[in-house]
Amino acid sequence: MKTISALLAMLALDLLGSAAQAQNYCKICHSEQEVEFRDSVHREELSCVSCHGGDASTSELPQAHTKGFRGKITRTQIPAFCAGCHADREQMRPYGLSTDQYALYQTSGHGRKFAQGDAEVAICTDCHQSHRILSRDHPQSPIHRQHIAATCGHCHADAERMRPYGLSVGVVADYEASVHAQAQRQGSAARLPSCADCHGSHGAAPPGVGDVSKVCMHCHRQTREFFHLSPHFKTLAASGYGECAACHSNHRILEPGPELWASTCSTCHEAGSEAARTGEQILALFSQAQADVAQARETIAQARQVPLAVEDYEQRLRTASTYLMEAGPLSHTLDAAAVEELTRKSRSVAQELETEIHEKMEVFEGRRLVVALIWLYLLITILALQYYKRWSR
Ligand code: HEC
Ligand code: HEC
Ligand code: HEC
Ligand code: HEC
Ligand code: HEC
Ligand code: HEC
Ligand code: HEC
Ligand code: HEC
Ligand code: HEC
Repeated sequence: MKTISALLAMLALDLLGSAAQAQNYCKICHSEQEVEFRDSVHREELSCVSCHGGDASTSELPQAHTKGFRGKITRTQIPAFCAGCHADREQMRPYGLSTDQYALYQTSGHGRKFAQGDAEVAICTDCHQSHRILSRDHPQSPIHRQHIAATCGHCHADAERMRPYGLSVGVVADYEASVHAQAQRQGSAARLPSCADCHGSHGAAPPGVGDVSKVCMHCHRQTREFFHLSPHFKTLAASGYGECAACHSNHRILEPGPELWASTCSTCHEAGSEAARTGEQILALFSQAQADVAQARETIAQARQVPLAVEDYEQRLRTASTYLMEAGPLSHTLDAAAVEELTRKSRSVAQELETEIHEKMEVFEGRRLVVALIWLYLLITILALQYYKRWSR
């Protein structure tokens, strides 16, 4: 009996022992980090010990905190610490991960200040977290496109944090008001810029841009090509203004319309100058064409009520709108004559269909009168017949 229980006890001990081999006892005392770590991209390849050292096979202190235990990793250590693996080509090769994040980070505004001993700037864990590091596609990831603005805003919308640096805390709210953020919120499938697309995730600017003020052309290529032809192309940047931001601003990029012609030019050009006159001229061209297109749209709506067949008119209205839409990018040349060519086409299509619909409606009204007269005639005849019948009885 004794030997059996001794055997059983030995077996139990053995089982416990082998379990301890695979067991991670850190989590017994550090359940919070353990829970966070369960979702992490690191969970398959790393364990607590990979980053903190220590002995995970014991549940006792101080033994657990021996064997190269390094304890907490401080803010000033973190970038170089993460880079220990992430800048190492050999270690990253099996995972197909690029190894440039640390090098890029060091060239960024954040990284440069960090190198001067300022640990208040963003470091790896501010954007990625420490234990619950998620891939950018994870819907809860702080670097998911939907959350980037909030991640940056954690510091950049915080007046206390930004005061020492003289940076505006309005950038996040301005960005949220932009056409870009709006389209993002509405679930647009287009490639839209969030903070990291314009500023780069790790570097000062995204690859191939060099200067953040030129980032717009990545997506608005055609507009940039037209802008290239304008007298502003050389002068704006040379005068210290951003290429596009001079009129659209950096972050509060609103839906542009003719009112932009009315409001922006006067911030740099005096009333009555050649430039101001050019602005007024282009504004007038847009306004006239927009009025004509709006009028045609209204008339089509009336024709639909009559009812007339309007498919062909709608098709032509789209053509008129397309000319007008093409004039938007083209107007960045500041070439009023070129803009007029398109707005004239737009207006002539709109006016033409306007006239046609009116003619058709007149014919239709005429026919309606004839039909009404016939009805009247029939009615009178019927009444007359009935009267005649009663009278003849
Ligand atoms: C028996 C419980 C226990 C076990 C097992 C244990 N720890 Fe701890 N650990 C603690 C306590 C208590 C503290 C806080 C007191 C201190 O700083 O020493 C702590 C602190 C830490 C800290 C923060 C140190 C600092 O400088 O603030 C880290 C990191 C840490 N433990 C990692 C680990 C890792 C990794 C393991 C597994 C290899 C582990 N611990 C195992 C109890 C434990
Ligand atoms: C990828 C590296 C990495 C891994 C893996 C990792 N940690 Fe950490 N841990 C950090 C960093 C960086 C910090 C310091 C920053 C912070 O406090 O968030 C930290 C901080 C801690 C602290 C101190 C927390 C505090 O607020 O003082 C504890 C305790 C800790 N880790 C435990 C663990 C445990 C337990 C595991 C395994 C489940 C683990 N860590 C896995 C990187 C790691
Ligand atoms: C001990 C080496 C090591 C350390 C230290 C380390 N990582 Fe990693 N990291 C990896 C490995 C390996 C992977 C790939 C994991 C996989 O794909 O299964 C990875 C993956 C990642 C990814 C996911 C990339 C993707 O989208 O696929 C991010 C983000 C990341 N690490 C950030 C960090 C941060 C931030 C730190 C510092 C707090 C850090 N890592 C510290 C080894 C490390
Ligand atoms: C200011 C925020 C921020 C900081 C600081 C930051 N990252 Fe990132 N990181 C991002 C964003 C955003 C992405 C997603 C990139 C993308 O979508 O292309 C990313 C992606 C990654 C990836 C995925 C691999 C890749 O290149 O696609 C790794 C690994 C990574 N970061 C590691 C680090 C390390 C290591 C540090 C510190 C040296 C760091 N990051 C600092 C925001 C940051
Ligand atoms: C932990 C706080 C923190 C987070 C998170 C953070 N930043 Fe910053 N950022 C700072 C501080 C502090 C400065 C001021 C540094 C300086 O004066 O150069 C700064 C400076 C900047 C600058 C100006 C740098 C320059 O070259 O003048 C830009 C641009 C910037 N951050 C963009 C971002 C973006 C984009 C994100 C998110 C992907 C982000 N930051 C996340 C703290 C943060
Ligand atoms: C559409 C592109 C774009 C997006 C999106 C964008 N920025 Fe900017 N940002 C710029 C440009 C352009 C500048 C001016 C840079 C220059 O002149 O070098 C700038 C300047 C800044 C500055 C410099 C400080 C200042 O007040 O002038 C900070 C900080 C900044 N952005 C943070 C952010 C944050 C945080 C987000 C997201 C909420 C964001 N930006 C989104 C294009 C963008
Ligand atoms: C990553 C690509 C991308 C970048 C970078 C980008 N945009 Fe956009 N932008 C778009 C998309 C896509 C739309 C269309 C949004 C929508 O669905 O309404 C848009 C819309 C606009 C509009 C409104 C157009 C309209 O007809 O309503 C303006 C103005 C604009 N962007 C200006 C800028 C400026 C200025 C910059 C640089 C500071 C910039 N964009 C950077 C993708 C981008
Ligand atoms: C941020 C300042 C700024 C804004 C806003 C601005 N311009 Fe200019 N513009 C300039 C500068 C600088 C020049 C070069 C003029 C010079 O060298 O005297 C210039 C030149 C011109 C020229 C060439 C003729 C000339 O006077 O040299 C025209 C035309 C012009 N702008 C039209 C416009 C129109 C139209 C608008 C509004 C849509 C506008 N500008 C908005 C700064 C601006
Ligand atoms: C001189 C001021 C000025 C500058 C500089 C400027 N824009 Fe515009 N932008 C306007 C005005 C005014 C409109 C409105 C045109 C209209 O009525 O449709 C506009 C319209 C737009 C539109 C919507 C129509 C279209 O083109 O599709 C986009 C996108 C746009 N701008 C992007 C840019 C980009 C990118 C740059 C830099 C390469 C830039 N803008 C530079 C004044 C400017």
